[in-house]
Amino acid sequence: MIKVRRLGHATFETPDLDKQIDYYTQVVGLHLLAREKDRAFLTARTGQLAVELVRADRPRCATLSFEVAAEEDFADMARRLTADGVKSELRSDSIPGTPQLLSFQDPKGTTIELFTEWKFLGRDQGATGIGPLKIGHVAFFVQDPKPIAEFYGRVLGFKVSDWIGDFFVFMRCNADHHAVNFIKAEHVAMHHVAFELRDFAHLQNACDLFGEKNIPIIWGPVRLGPGHNVSTFHRNPDDQIVEVYAELDQMKDEELGYFDPRPWHKDQPQRPKVWERHGVAFVWGPPPTPDFLRSRG
Ligand SMILES: [Fe+2]
Repeated sequence: MIKVRRLGHATFETPDLDKQIDYYTQVVGLHLLAREKDRAFLTARTGQLAVELVRADRPRCATLSFEVAAEEDFADMARRLTADGVKSELRSDSIPGTPQLLSFQDPKGTTIELFTEWKFLGRDQGATGIGPLKIGHVAFFVQDPKPIAEFYGRVLGFKVSDWIGDFFVFMRCNADHHAVNFIKAEHVAMHHVAFELRDFAHLQNACDLFGEKNIPIIWGPVRLGPGHNVSTFHRNPDDQIVEVYAELDQMKDEELGYFDPRPWHKDQPQRPKVWERHGVAFVWGPPPTPDFLRSRG
């Protein structure tokens, strides 16, 4: 098994590269680090790479990268992947600041890239837009969340933070309640990507920006159940759902086995569990709108 420590960046394919660059810089507030003819790299204002955009026929989340411990050896990781039945490939210089990465496909066809080395990249202090701290998590529709959750646990060291019924699983690779989610559906597709904000005041500023730019909020502000993050959701120009959130549950010490106590928790302590399928998906706030719930593919 490999133990991934952190979500690095996501690669989104898009048919309209310019429009997505405008969206990620002017609405999300990422910094455009580098632009080539058919791709672009964007960083958070911390200088960490957050998003790669690649021109393609249709919108898709193609790749997730994850940081592993600095002392990990690529050949040894490749051997462990082979032992788990996964064929991997060592690649060089495919993302800025990261000299080498180990690339393979997860069972739903997303490319996973593991890296040990990275650099702080450009920052844009005068940027407009929301300006998140980081990319926080990516959620996917899959036909069966159980085997993919098992793969992420067995091969990449993820732990299950919560289930809703048997159709929605939240998985963590560090203190954050979740870095990936899998939701049962008829097809495989990204469900949403989420960016972490500083606090609820930052979320309020984001809502004001959505108002100013006439971007409909399709759910929230809401305090969710699993993870207890305060969140709002909107759609980007590729019709993908994008979440901005703050106050996500933290499990600072795995040995204790509970999330840091918060006054809005209903369980004392709040441990990983199976949430009931109906009625408890959020603590307060409005229900999701039909525009949030409509399926995509
Ligand atoms: Fe989310």
